[in-house]
Amino acid sequence: MVKRVKTAVFPVAGLGTRFLPATKAMPKEMLTVVDRPLIQYAVDEAREAGITHFVFVTGRNKGVIEDHFDRQFELETTLEQRGKQAALAELQQDLPSAGRTSFTRQQEPLGLGHAVWCAREIVGDEPFALLLPDMLFKARRGVLKQMMETYEETGGNVLAVEQVPQQDVSSYGVVGRGAGDDSGFRISGMVEKPKPEEAPSNLIISGRYILQPEIFNLLADQPRGAGGEIQLTDAMQTLMQSQPFVGVQYEGQSFDCGSKIGFLTANVAYALDREDIGDDFLAALSRIGLHNALIDGFRIAAE
Ligand code: UTP
Repeated sequence: MVKRVKTAVFPVAGLGTRFLPATKAMPKEMLTVVDRPLIQYAVDEAREAGITHFVFVTGRNKGVIEDHFDRQFELETTLEQRGKQAALAELQQDLPSAGRTSFTRQQEPLGLGHAVWCAREIVGDEPFALLLPDMLFKARRGVLKQMMETYEETGGNVLAVEQVPQQDVSSYGVVGRGAGDDSGFRISGMVEKPKPEEAPSNLIISGRYILQPEIFNLLADQPRGAGGEIQLTDAMQTLMQSQPFVGVQYEGQSFDCGSKIGFLTANVAYALDREDIGDDFLAALSRIGLHNALIDGFRIAAE
C-alpha cells in the first residue's frame, strides 16, 4: 500500500527575470493566461489530482498570491449587488477551502532545490507533489492526476517527462529511460542541463514531481550546482541511489510560461479554445493580418 499524496508544494519565490519589467513588483505566477493567473491553473490541476493541502513557498512581492487565495468581501458584495452570479460563483469555486493553504518564505532565491527545502517543516514526513506554476499543461486529464495514477501502482518518486528536440536538452534536466511504457517507466539516470551529445535521452523533466520526504535531508546538505543555485535535480540524483524514480510521459501539451514565447503561445492556444471568446479572437487575429489558414493549422495542432 503506497502512502497517499495529500500535500502539494508550489515554489513561487523566483525572481522572474525573463519577464522584467512586468515582474518587478508583481510575481510571475500572477501573469494571466487569458483571464486566470498561472498559479490558479496549477492549484486547479493539484485539486483535480486529489490534493487537499496547498503549500506556497513565496518571496518578496508575493503577498498578492496570498490575497488571490483569500476571500474578497467587498468585491463579492459588489458582484452580488450587480447580479453577476456567474463571476461570483467562479471566484468562490477557485478558492481552496479554509485552512487548506500554507505559506512560507524563501528569504533568498537560492534555487528551486532551496525553495523546496523551505517547505520541509510544513510537509513533514509525507510524500508530496511539487508543481512549478510556470509550466502549464493543456491536457484532457490533468498531468498530476496521470502521475498520481502511476504512483498508486509504483510508489516511490514520480516525474512528468516530455520529449524535446535533442538540440534543446541543454536547457533542462534530462532523464535516462529504463524498462516500462509511457505511463510509467523506470528512470535509469538524470542529469541537469547536459550537452546534447552527452544527454541520456531527449526526455526532459517538465515541472511536475511526486517526491518522498527523504529529499529534504539531501537538500539540506546540497552544495550549489549549475548557475550557483541549489538544484533539485542534484538531490534527486542522490536519492535515486536508494529509491526508485518513475517517469510518466504524460498525455497533453505543455507551455513553458516562464519564457515569453511559451507564455504568448499559451495565451493564443487557450483563447482560441474558449467557447466565449475563441471565434471573436480568431476574427481579431485575422484582422491584424494573420492568415486564417495559419490559425486553423495551429488550432488543429493544439488539439
Ligand atoms: P525559474 O527557473 O523559472 O526561475 O523557476 P525564475 O527566477 O522564476 O525566473 P527567471 O529564470 O529569472 O525568469 C522555476 C520555478 O521555481 C521557483 C520559481 O518561482 C518558479 O515557479 N523558484 C526558483 C523559487 O521559488 N525559488 C528560487 O530560488 C528559484
